[in-house]
Amino acid sequence: MTGRVALIGCGPGDPELLTIKARRLIGEADVVVYDRLVGAPILDLVPAGIARIDVGKAAGRHVRPQAEINDLLVRLAVKGRFVARLKGGDPFVFGRGGEEAEALARHGIAVEIVPGITAAAGCAAALGMPLTHRDLASSVRFVTGHRRDDGELDLDWDGLADPDTTLVFYMGLANLPEIALRLMVAGLPGSTPAAVIVAGTTPDQRVCAGPRAELPARAIRARLEPPALVVVGRVVACASLVETPTSAVEERTDEPSSIALPR
Ligand SMILES: C[S@@+](CC[C@H](N)C(=O)[O-])C[C@H]1O[C@@H](n2cnc3c(N)ncnc32)[C@H](O)[C@@H]1O
Repeated sequence: MTGRVALIGCGPGDPELLTIKARRLIGEADVVVYDRLVGAPILDLVPAGIARIDVGKAAGRHVRPQAEINDLLVRLAVKGRFVARLKGGDPFVFGRGGEEAEALARHGIAVEIVPGITAAAGCAAALGMPLTHRDLASSVRFVTGHRRDDGELDLDWDGLADPDTTLVFYMGLANLPEIALRLMVAGLPGSTPAAVIVAGTTPDQRVCAGPRAELPARAIRARLEPPALVVVGRVVACASLVETPTSAVEERTDEPSSIALPR
């Protein structure tokens, strides 16, 4: 009998942010296939003796092509296994969950999608920073900060440069200078609060904040490493309104006028 696959969102890192459903399915799986962003505290929940396959990196340091991952999931399910496919954050937010679900459906394999807390929501909570706020941001946009090839970041910059919107760039750390520049050219004020959040919700969380115009230089000085989100918008001024066990805003702007909450 053909098996099935659950595409399971595992949240941004803190294992306590797993859903109850994710936790249950991890315990029921015959085999676990996981991404780079699924950390040890979550893998520790996989019962002993259950095979774990790391598809975050293949031979050498190359990322395993998506087609190979799709084939692997199909092959395991065709053998009758229940496969828990663990993904960082939410499977349908920059997680290629759609591609995997389509590949499985093409082979007639049952797929269940288990949503997870996406990095934007996890990092916002860890910093006490709302993503929307009646006085500061009437919308939030999740944006890729990663070029598909080596081309330029081909985004609707004029549409993005809206002071009433919170912008969350995933995979954008390496392109932070370009993001900041493009937003400037599109008219977003240089004083707009912005931050880079590294490894949010984990013990390795780091935050570097400052006005949009200064953030790239600050991030370089702080030697930040992925995974990181770049958040741009007035709500960033609310960061650290709450105490959190893991977070420390380690580099904030010293210019209160440039990051102060608008009145
Ligand atoms: C391939 S995307 C996967 C996103 C994931 N599906 C989600 O919903 O969060 C990977 C990017 O997510 C962001 N990310 C994931 N976990 C993060 C974390 N704990 N802290 C900061 N950024 C994170 C980073 O921008 C990273 O480059």
